[in-house]
Amino acid sequence: MKKIAVLTSGGDAPGMNAALRATVRYALYKGLDIYGVERGYTGLINGDIFRMNSRSVSDIIHRGGTVIKTSRCPAFMEKEGRKHAFETLSAYDITGLVVIGGDGSFHGAQALSEEYGISVMGIPGTIDNDLNYTDYTLGFDTAVNTTLWAINSLRDTMGSHDRVSLLEVMGRGCGDIALYAGIAGGAEYVIIPEVPYDIDEICKDLKSSQKRGKTSNMIILAEGAGNKDEISAQIKEKTGISVKTTTLGHIQRGGSPSMFDRVLAARMAVRAVDLLCEDSESRLIGIRNNEITADPIDVALNMPKRFDEKLYDIAHILSL
Ligand code: ADP
Ligand code: F6P
Repeated sequence: MKKIAVLTSGGDAPGMNAALRATVRYALYKGLDIYGVERGYTGLINGDIFRMNSRSVSDIIHRGGTVIKTSRCPAFMEKEGRKHAFETLSAYDITGLVVIGGDGSFHGAQALSEEYGISVMGIPGTIDNDLNYTDYTLGFDTAVNTTLWAINSLRDTMGSHDRVSLLEVMGRGCGDIALYAGIAGGAEYVIIPEVPYDIDEICKDLKSSQKRGKTSNMIILAEGAGNKDEISAQIKEKTGISVKTTTLGHIQRGGSPSMFDRVLAARMAVRAVDLLCEDSESRLIGIRNNEITADPIDVALNMPKRFDEKLYDIAHILSL
């Protein structure tokens, strides 16, 4: 019987458990033996691997995080580490692997696949939405909804005191969490790495928005776009306006996955397992224009930067 394994790697994201459950249940439905690996590539190197059945993934669809744990694994960046990982897979006669993770995890998957001929299917699990080959990654929708909850709370208190608020959100080098949460939360400014900001422009706008009768303003800053303390200090210096800053932090990484992330997880996992059944070359699963896609890893990882300029313009226009 064909044997495959599944692991979660890199930063956890809501929807990873839903993808794990779908991978295990669909693999069993297709008649495969399926193994879970603990703590991503660390477990693969250390041989922390166990057989899974339908009950192994009971009652996890609604949970954030990942029940098989995750890690960042420097040893897997080295050839020697990947050799140990391959030895673990060989010991169990495993020929196919599902990696649920982000960009870094997929570079690791690519190396393992190229060096040892393991067929690896990548399911994008990261709140950052920073993979260019897919419109959405698992966890992004949930993280934006969590951010919205924070924005709603901030709006209540900031509005009551006529204050300006600056909320820093995650995303590494990608501004999607800030952009989508900014539009959905009615923020006045969205500062993202894709568009260099002009502090004078922001200060001018803040002043003119006050003249137009706005008594409270919300700025959403993507972590990769600038430093919240510097920005708020500059605003204070140039306009006299005090800015209340908040960092949302790891709160946006947890929480029960949204409907969108759970359904996407199911669709992607089914495609990944189907491809392993067909002995396909290694691929990264994604979604473009609501179609599930499966590009060869090197093609997927080399797609040009995806940025929706129109959406950015809308964010600004609607804040006037
Ligand atoms: P994410 O997958 O969320 O982007 P990381 O960037 O931390 O998270 O990557 C997760 C793990 O993938 C790393 O800890 C490492 O084990 C592995 N990895 C990342 N980049 C590479 C690479 N270039 N070659 C081999 N393994 C890599
Ligand atoms: O990649 C997900 C992410 O949450 C990023 O948005 C953030 O920059 C980073 O991981 C934080 O990493 P850690 O959890 O290791 O502090």
